[in-house]
Amino acid sequence: MRIGLIGTGRIGTFHARTLTAAPGVTEVLLTDADAARAAEVAAELGATSVPSPTELLLTHGVDAVVIASATASHAGLIREAAEHGLPVFCEKPIALDLPGTMEALRTVEEAGSLLQIGFMRRFDAGYAAAREAVRSGSLGRLHTVRAMTSDPAPPPAAYLPLSGGLYRDCLVHDFDVLRWVTGREVVSVYAAGSDAGPSMFRDADDVDTAAAVLTLDDGTLCTATATRVNGAGYDVRMELAGEKDQVAVGLDARTPLTSLEPAAGSSRGTPWPGFLERFAPAYEAELTAFVKAVRGEAPNPCDGYEALAALRVAEACERSRREGRPVAMSEFAS
Ligand SMILES: NC(=O)c1ccc[n+]([C@@H]2O[C@H](COP(=O)([O-])OP(=O)(O)OC[C@H]3O[C@@H](n4cnc5c(N)ncnc54)[C@H](O)[C@@H]3O)[C@@H](O)[C@H]2O)c1
Repeated sequence: MRIGLIGTGRIGTFHARTLTAAPGVTEVLLTDADAARAAEVAAELGATSVPSPTELLLTHGVDAVVIASATASHAGLIREAAEHGLPVFCEKPIALDLPGTMEALRTVEEAGSLLQIGFMRRFDAGYAAAREAVRSGSLGRLHTVRAMTSDPAPPPAAYLPLSGGLYRDCLVHDFDVLRWVTGREVVSVYAAGSDAGPSMFRDADDVDTAAAVLTLDDGTLCTATATRVNGAGYDVRMELAGEKDQVAVGLDARTPLTSLEPAAGSSRGTPWPGFLERFAPAYEAELTAFVKAVRGEAPNPCDGYEALAALRVAEACERSRREGRPVAMSEFAS
C-alpha cells in the first residue's frame, strides 16, 4: 500500500515514521506547505517528497491519505481526498466549527469513502481497560467520572488564535474518550474558564484553565478539567467511580502528583515530556488500525461522526463558559 501524508510538523513527522515502518506499507509520500521541511523528513525516513497536496492526491496513485497539516486545512483536504475516492486518516479536528465539520462529512458520505479521525486515546491501554471495566460491570453502576488534561507549558502565542480555544483544542480528547469509555452521550454541560495566568490567553480571548461538569444520559456525573500551565508536568488522567469499585487511567510512577501522606513515601518518577511520548504506542496503533480498515480487514475505529459528537460537547462548553449558564446538548441538535 502507498500512503500519502500531508503535513510534516510535530505530529506528521511522528506519523510518517510510523508509516514507513508499518507492515504492508510499501511507500510513503510526504508533502508540506513548507516543501523544504517535507524534503528533509523524507530524506531522513527514506520516503518520497511531493511538491503539493493536490499533486499528491492527483498524480501519484496513492491508496490512502493521512492528513496531519494545520487544522485550518483539514476540511478542504478531506473533501479533496474523498472526491478522489481516497480513504483518509485525519488528525483531529475536522474543522473548528460545526458547519465546516458537517460539510466535510457530507462529502465523505456522498463519496462512500472512509474517514478515520485521530482520537488516539481510544488506542491507549489504560483507556481501553477502563472501557472494559465499565462494560464488564466490575465497577457497578458508574456514578462519577473525572477526566483531565494538563499541559506543562503553553503553546506558542501565535498558535492560540488558530486553536479554537482550550475546549475545542485540548478537552475535545477528553470528551471523545469519555463517550467511548462510558458508551454514553453527554446531555448537558456547565463550564467555566480562567484566564488569570499568562496574558497571551487574554489577548487571544482564550483561557489557560478550564473546568466543566458534564451530565451523561444515564445520570452519571463527570468533570473535565484542563490547563496549559501545569508546572508539575504533563498529566492526562481519568478516574471512574462506581457503586462497586473505582479505577484510574494515567496514574503511575510518572504521574506528576505528590501525595502528602507520610505513609505514601516521596518517590516520584519523571513525568512524560508531552503527548508524543505519553501516547506513542496509541499513535502507532491508530495508524495500524487505519491500514487494516483501508484493506477492509477491520472496521473504522473512529469515524467522522465521532469527531462531530466530541466537537458538539466542546461547542456547548464554550457557549456555557461565555454565557455563564448550563447548556443542554439539545441546543446543538443536527
Ligand atoms: N491527536 C493528537 O493528539 C494531536 C497532537 C498534536 C497535533 N494534533 C493535530 O495535528 C495537526 C498538526 O499539529 P502539529 O502540532 O503537528 O502542527 P505543526 O505546526 O507542528 O505542523 C503543521 C504542519 O502542517 C503544514 N501545513 C499547514 N498547512 C498546510 C497545507 N495546507 N498543506 C500542507 N501542509 C500544511 C505546516 O507547514 C506544518 O509543517 C493539528 O490539526 C493538531 O490539532 C493532534
